[in-house]
Amino acid sequence: MLDPLLSVRDLKLSFQTERGELRLFQGLNLDVGKGEVLGVVGESGSGKSTLAYSIIRLLPPNARFEGGSVVLGGKDLTKLSEKQMRDVRGRDITMVFQDPTTALNPVFRVKDQMLKVIKANIGVEGAEARVLAMGMLRNVELPDAAAIMGSFPYELSGGMQQRVMIAMALTSNPQLLIADEPTSAVDATIQVQILKLLDRLRREKGFSVLLITHSIAVAKEVSDRIAVMYAGDIVEEGEAEKVVDSSKHPYTQGLVKCIPAPRARHESRRDLATVPGEVPDLTDPPPGCRFHPRCPYVMDVCRKTKPGYWKAGDSHALCYLYEGGKA
Ligand SMILES: Nc1ncnc2c1ncn2[C@@H]1O[C@H](COP(=O)(O)OP(=O)(O)O)[C@@H](O)[C@H]1O
Ligand SMILES: [Mg+2]
Repeated sequence: MLDPLLSVRDLKLSFQTERGELRLFQGLNLDVGKGEVLGVVGESGSGKSTLAYSIIRLLPPNARFEGGSVVLGGKDLTKLSEKQMRDVRGRDITMVFQDPTTALNPVFRVKDQMLKVIKANIGVEGAEARVLAMGMLRNVELPDAAAIMGSFPYELSGGMQQRVMIAMALTSNPQLLIADEPTSAVDATIQVQILKLLDRLRREKGFSVLLITHSIAVAKEVSDRIAVMYAGDIVEEGEAEKVVDSSKHPYTQGLVKCIPAPRARHESRRDLATVPGEVPDLTDPPPGCRFHPRCPYVMDVCRKTKPGYWKAGDSHALCYLYEGGKA
């Protein structure tokens, strides 16, 4: 990775729950390079969305930030006032969610929602804002922009709604777009189209993308690098093809095994297999390596002490298997 745009350092975060404290991040590090797509991959419950919300500081009331920094373009976001943070959120970092209904209000026409976002984020109104909105809709390959502007969200297909959300997220020319499972709600063909669209836009405009997905196959298609998350830890990180084609961490290897064969991929929208075992209860996490109860290569030490990172060039893996240059 060249120049980092975003650097998360030593992030510690927990949730207060009825069953006690859930210590999710215990010193998480992550970089997103300028203009790159970083795919963050992991099963449901691994902490992907919480990572996104930690970056933009939109955490639920029972979350406790316990330390660390989130530096964007030299500025530590954890140190900003709520008001400064609101500006960062609309302008520098924007987010696209899985479910269009959380971002698009069903009772307002697309036009009204786009103009409102444009006014709030960049202070542009009237004819100028309309021109900008129409231009963005064409940019996300919705050619009949005037008709889309006049529509209610329910009059559009799921794929079109996602394009509208991407258009809205890009009106302020952000440095970083966070897309949390942006395509899970649409079918496979549309998924690929939308991810290709995002890829084209970031090449043209130069923003970076943090792409959150549970599918390592999807991540490989559109990411430059992949970070694999398990139970709040980044267990492996590196160049996308390397992470998938020569995975180091046994969890990554498990995810890769679940990728359906090319033919099957079009026959089913669901992943065909899952990694054996379950994500642990994080209010009472396993000691040592959090993955050890599911690991086919578990050793004694894994049950006792958490491993450190094995590093090779730009890749790393949180695993004892590679200590001392083995494997
Ligand atoms: N508000 C909350 N209160 C308590 N636990 C939470 C809260 N939000 C998330 N968690 C827990 O944090 C972990 C990570 O959740 P999440 O970030 O949503 O994972 P993902 O997006 O990868 O599915 C899960 O164990 C989840 O139950
Ligand atoms: Mg999530």
